[in-house]
Amino acid sequence: MGKQDIVLTGDRPTGKLHLGHYVGSLKERLNLQDKAELFVMIADVQALTDHAKKSSEVRDSVLEVGLDYLSVGLDPVKSTLFIQSLVPELFELTVYYLNLVTMNRLKHNPTVKAEINQKGFKEGIPAGFVMYPISQVADITAFKANLVPVGADQMPMIEQTNEIVRTFNRLYGDVLVEAKAIIPEGGAKRLVGIDGANKMSKSLGNAIYLSDSSDVLEKKVKKMFTDPNHLQVNDPGSLENNAVFDYLEVFDPDREKLEEMKAHYQRGGLGDSLVKRRLFEVLDALLEPMRKRREEFAKDPAEVYRILLKGSEKASERAHKTLSQVRAAMNLNYR
Ligand code: TRP
Repeated sequence: MGKQDIVLTGDRPTGKLHLGHYVGSLKERLNLQDKAELFVMIADVQALTDHAKKSSEVRDSVLEVGLDYLSVGLDPVKSTLFIQSLVPELFELTVYYLNLVTMNRLKHNPTVKAEINQKGFKEGIPAGFVMYPISQVADITAFKANLVPVGADQMPMIEQTNEIVRTFNRLYGDVLVEAKAIIPEGGAKRLVGIDGANKMSKSLGNAIYLSDSSDVLEKKVKKMFTDPNHLQVNDPGSLENNAVFDYLEVFDPDREKLEEMKAHYQRGGLGDSLVKRRLFEVLDALLEPMRKRREEFAKDPAEVYRILLKGSEKASERAHKTLSQVRAAMNLNYR
């Protein structure tokens, strides 16, 4: 990893970001902004592929996600934060790439298939939704990104990217760059929601948001799922499927104390309320600096938009370079 590495990643603006996003990719981005050239995209056009009728919700979420980025500590001086719809080069690339993939291939993307099942589109599946992986190929290749930090569910998008890159380069000459996924530590494991049963997600109502106040955080931690058989403090407790310990495992910086707590809990004599107290402390300490920064930026949304607009200009310039090369390679260079 070094300054020659180009990293592109993004989020669909369909709500505020939560702890799952933090461990899944935001944390890694903080590290990457110091080491590589980092582009972070708010994927509003991708969000519209399943929110066409809720464009105002997408619009509001763009600001929320922008605030989430800044409050987590992404620094617009070190990285380029931008809005997808302000980089029209991406959509021209998408159209060219769509000729390099078959309908059959699109239909068999496992992530898209899973999402179609979850979302249960009532009026049929929007064509734009089935092809969004190709738009994502454009996002990645426009910047010649060689690294893409994403959750495990995004692996099929990286495979799709590399297929198109290889096909394009074979047909038209060496223009595009293959990408590698950076999967967060802990591999494919997604952060479980406070229900302890499903991955953390806005739609399941089991998320802890980066913008949650101390009070809200405390209530959510108290509601969390632990060992259902740990009825009395003195009963031995189990760490299996115990969301509170799962979280401590991910977030508690004091590993020694955590090991002690785990042993004590399994022996019996350590009550759930104390374990939850510790988790609240750990998460509150993580979120507090984010809340402070958020409060500052939230006072001046115009400044947040200025940052995103400036980033978008820079992103558009860079994408334009790739687009010119793509056009030339495809014999579309009339000027
Ligand atoms: N599909 C990603 C998600 O749902 C968001 C995204 C859009 C993305 N374009 C991207 C991620 C390009 C990485 C690279 O979270």
